[in-house]
Amino acid sequence: MPSLRDAVRGRILFGGDYNPEQWPEEVWEDDVRLMKEAGVNSVTLGVFSWARIEPRPGAREFGWLDRLMDLMHSHGIGVVLATPTASPPPWMGARHPETLPRAEDGSIVWYGSRQQFCASSPVYRRYAAALTEDLAARYAGHPALTMWHINNEYCTHCWCDETAAHFRRWLHERYRTLDALNEAWGTAFWSQRYDAWPEILPPRKAQYMKNPAQVLDFKRFTSDALKECYTAERDIVARHTPDIPVTTNFMPLWSGQDAWAWSAEEDVVSVDIYPDPRDAWGGQYNAMIADMTRSQAAGPWMLMEQAAGAVNWRPVNRPKPEGLNRLWSLQAVARGADAVCYFQWRQSRQGSEKFHSGMLGHAGEHGRAFRETRRLGAELAAIGPAVSGAGVSARVAVLHDWDAWWAGAQEGLPSALLDYAEVIRHWHRALWESGTATDFARPDADLGGYAVVVVPHLYLLDDAAIDNLVAYVRGGGRLVCGFFSGVADRDDRIRPGGMDARLRELFGIGILHEWWPLEADEAVECDGFRGTLWSEELEAAEDAEVLATYRDGELAGLPAVLRRGRATYVSTLPEPAALRSLLAGVVREAGVEPVLAGLPEGVEAVRRGELLFLLHHRREMVTVAVPGTYEDLLTGRSVVDRIALGRYGVAVLRSTAP
Ligand code: GAL
Repeated sequence: MPSLRDAVRGRILFGGDYNPEQWPEEVWEDDVRLMKEAGVNSVTLGVFSWARIEPRPGAREFGWLDRLMDLMHSHGIGVVLATPTASPPPWMGARHPETLPRAEDGSIVWYGSRQQFCASSPVYRRYAAALTEDLAARYAGHPALTMWHINNEYCTHCWCDETAAHFRRWLHERYRTLDALNEAWGTAFWSQRYDAWPEILPPRKAQYMKNPAQVLDFKRFTSDALKECYTAERDIVARHTPDIPVTTNFMPLWSGQDAWAWSAEEDVVSVDIYPDPRDAWGGQYNAMIADMTRSQAAGPWMLMEQAAGAVNWRPVNRPKPEGLNRLWSLQAVARGADAVCYFQWRQSRQGSEKFHSGMLGHAGEHGRAFRETRRLGAELAAIGPAVSGAGVSARVAVLHDWDAWWAGAQEGLPSALLDYAEVIRHWHRALWESGTATDFARPDADLGGYAVVVVPHLYLLDDAAIDNLVAYVRGGGRLVCGFFSGVADRDDRIRPGGMDARLRELFGIGILHEWWPLEADEAVECDGFRGTLWSEELEAAEDAEVLATYRDGELAGLPAVLRRGRATYVSTLPEPAALRSLLAGVVREAGVEPVLAGLPEGVEAVRRGELLFLLHHRREMVTVAVPGTYEDLLTGRSVVDRIALGRYGVAVLRSTAP
């Protein structure tokens, strides 16, 4: 099986999406000159080139791409070649309107933007496969080709009739009989019983709340339907070039795609990360997505896209201040990335993204963006041989699961304020701030290698996952679980008692009487901290240890945090400092040390292979105590026992002790 290693070959890939079809050919020469100057060794071509390659049905215009592939090769730049199937040309929608997605209310999602295809459309799939076939045949064996990039950020949803038929086939595979489907969907409720398969629809616009089990299955189906599009194209390119690795780029922590299931189908796991430069916790977000992607890849991963400066899709789009692009790029490398790439190489002058930054911005080669690009390219080249391929090891895992996310993000819950991604982020932040190396894992994964497992919030847990957690604790592991977890089974049916009985026993919960969600601006006093978002009316089992009780309100005196042996349950969302110290306590008890003790506020330490990365997320000068003698691979200087870091400073240290 080919892997990222085959494309990387002992370096770090550096480059980005390159859209030369937006520019006259004279500019291409200038592009390669500047790419060489910046140390770019990889470009992603073709992502949105469908209309250029196939201007009318069945036509093939490869000449321009031939010239580009040759141009890249002659300058030693590898090409991540995309199948351009994310954005069908207007002719497809005009001639085959059935390829256009329908929204929940039946309205058509038109061409004129991008990604307007129905994943279930046989016509779309046929055209996509034919183009992929010809592209793969043409460039198989081209020396510039280093990787395949299938489509781009698969994310379409469709509720059309073709989708309905496909959904029914998917459901038939899953349930076999209508009785089983009716049972799983709880259709006795509101007279929703189905009498024949053709009656079943995707959950379209409805009068009131939709059947949650149907919505859950539709989300599962949509992820699978898109995955079929991906694997169909992957199989075509793999047939032509079995030694070239294949990827498709994920959106980070995005609910539309079960990235655990998808990453199992990829040779290279890649992701696009766009932290908000104005977010004081942007560095933590970057770290979290890096940890998640590394865990999906089970090793080095590819940062396929990030922005050199501003994006253009937030309400207010500020550029990254000087140094932040470098800091977040090196942070991704510290956390396992072997590729640091961007959307996009040269900033566009036309189209919807003309205000989105590029590695080479409108200001040109003398602008700050390009100056920073050049510096980073040189630094990545310097550290590449020592870093590339090395692993990051963690003894703490955070559990994350799409089924639980999908089921728990519906209408009709105790609170509409519960935001799964935000809860995950809150818990990861607590570990990040305490300097604990962290992986992500799925709830049914083999957890044996972890000293501590953390469940921020998994509303749905199937029986296998529950057995897995119980066995993990029995086997000596420490489990910390957040509120509103283990509530529903795989069909989104509430477990008797409101929470699975095995889990209640594990944590020492006698009775779970009620869920008490909190208002957005409400907090509940607990012993030693304040809880937000959620609280629960719990009764502890006799042998449970109550670590903190609620202090005020209706739940005063009841347990807020309780524990039985090595299993701890947290029934609210503790404020950050409290959650940090709670988790740090468990981690310490498990014998897991932070990467580096005694760090100044805002400094992150990460070990990758034999290297120690120090990353300073703030602007003031700090001194970091780092006992021993090292070489800083970024400066070549030697470091003895301490190092000063300025604004957004980074050091990559290799021990020189004999
Ligand atoms: C990504 C996408 C790119 C570009 C970028 C802008 O979602 O894959 O094509 O649109 O966002 O931030």
